[in-house]
Amino acid sequence: MNNSPIGVFDSGLGGLTAVRELMSILPNENIIYFGDTGRVPYGTRSEDTIRKYAFQDAKFLLKHNVKMIIAACGTVSSVAVNLKNDLPVPYTGVVSPTCYTAVRTTKNKKIGIIGTSATIKSHSYKKIIESTDPEIQVIEQDCPLFVPLVENGFISKDDQIVRLVIKRYLSPLMEQGVDTVILGCTHYPIIKEAISSVMGENIALIDSGRETAIYAKKILMENNLLNDSNEKGNASFYVSDTPHGFENVAGVFLGKDIKHEVEQINIELY
Ligand code: DGL
Repeated sequence: MNNSPIGVFDSGLGGLTAVRELMSILPNENIIYFGDTGRVPYGTRSEDTIRKYAFQDAKFLLKHNVKMIIAACGTVSSVAVNLKNDLPVPYTGVVSPTCYTAVRTTKNKKIGIIGTSATIKSHSYKKIIESTDPEIQVIEQDCPLFVPLVENGFISKDDQIVRLVIKRYLSPLMEQGVDTVILGCTHYPIIKEAISSVMGENIALIDSGRETAIYAKKILMENNLLNDSNEKGNASFYVSDTPHGFENVAGVFLGKDIKHEVEQINIELY
């Protein structure tokens, strides 16, 4: 048993998709969240820059004595693959747990993968899926406008701009007849309703944040690191730019008001 917090990070709001799930399946756990809002997006940057940012983010969380680190970020999970080796605590990214579920979900063996440009360029999801089941056809698509839309609060399924951008990126996947789509960037589940409304409810959308939270619980159990307190856990939120925009969208997404609970830090010190 270990009552230290779980550390979760992302470039911005996306990792909250894992946090929301962690709060639901592990309500007694304490969580420290870092969203690198001063340097978002990660997905259009070079591999070296993404790796540098990922190491700094993890270092910040380790300062808070976390018992596990979750890179709730498809881009970091795809590019900073060595991060795991340099950490003194258990770690997971989002790619493997998400592929695991997608392979078990598809019926027609056609899976679409959407993510940031860096993630799609790495073929991280595609490689795992094809090595698990070579009969599965994988169609990849990067969606670089999704992250700025989410970070700026454009998340409603009724917003015409949101619908138009989704249609533009996802039409090729629909034309190819995929029955399952991996939301390979953790920002995307925030617009899951809108994606589903454009693509149709018969397409299974696999939420990388959710699958990763479920996998993190397994790791904590296996390592005997679960929190044994009976009290509800606390969540603390840190960002690297002004908290205002983050607080607004995060509050809507988490279904709770976190105004004045988000602290700004200088990530360049780590
Ligand atoms: N949410 C992240 C991901 O899963 C990062 C998106 C970005 O910063 O470009 O890829």
